[in-house]
Amino acid sequence: MNQVLEALQWRYAVKLFDPSKSIAEEDIHTLKSSLHLSASSYGLQPWKFLFIQNKDLREKLKAKSWNQKQVSDCSHYVVFLATKTINDEYVKNYVNLMSIIRSVPIDKLSGLHKAIYNDVVTGPRSKISQEWASRQCYIALGSLLTAAAILRVDACPMEGLDPAAYDEILQLRNTNYFTVMACALGYRSESDVLATAEKVRFPIESVIEDII
Ligand SMILES: Cc1cc2nc3c(=O)[nH]c(=O)nc-3n(C[C@H](O)[C@H](O)[C@H](O)COP(=O)(O)O)c2cc1C
Repeated sequence: MNQVLEALQWRYAVKLFDPSKSIAEEDIHTLKSSLHLSASSYGLQPWKFLFIQNKDLREKLKAKSWNQKQVSDCSHYVVFLATKTINDEYVKNYVNLMSIIRSVPIDKLSGLHKAIYNDVVTGPRSKISQEWASRQCYIALGSLLTAAAILRVDACPMEGLDPAAYDEILQLRNTNYFTVMACALGYRSESDVLATAEKVRFPIESVIEDII
């Protein structure tokens, strides 16, 4: 089996983490970078990722996460936040950054600026702004899960939580962010029975079709 498939077969959504094990800083840096480098629509990165290690805070979040033990027992708990709104200032800031980083005169980017503005700020995507921003977070989650599997760091993506309660606990009300979901990172406990469970997937032919 190749390395990609080996990593993806090794990965599973961990139910029981070993609370005594923590992820080395070097791997945390790689995992943070996998989020930072994730693709997003127009490259707008409408997100923020909170790496929460504070134990009291984790207990409070656990109580609003169906009491799932992963929240308290994992090494690093990542909460995915999406932007509430994308306004013209946000887009300007992004286009300016592109102009600087790629050494492109700002007027050469006016077409891009307009296209983003007409879609995300005033157009079709502005009508579903929070839904759109949430979808971008799921792309970042995919990047994180794959990177973690390659590093042989365990993970559990988590939607089993109360996003509004998280917003309260994390004091997001007066910010431009809201909670989408979370991902626990760490190392599987030897007693996690799901570690050896077979993957349950529909036959590959039923979900992938080649159209020639
Ligand atoms: C967006 C998302 C949210 C999930 N939320 C939870 C969760 O709250 N708790 C949990 O134990 N597993 C959660 N899972 C894990 C899934 O149940 C798991 O990925 C699925 O059953 C497939 O199993 P596998 O990932 O172990 O191959 C979630 C997965 C995804 C992708």
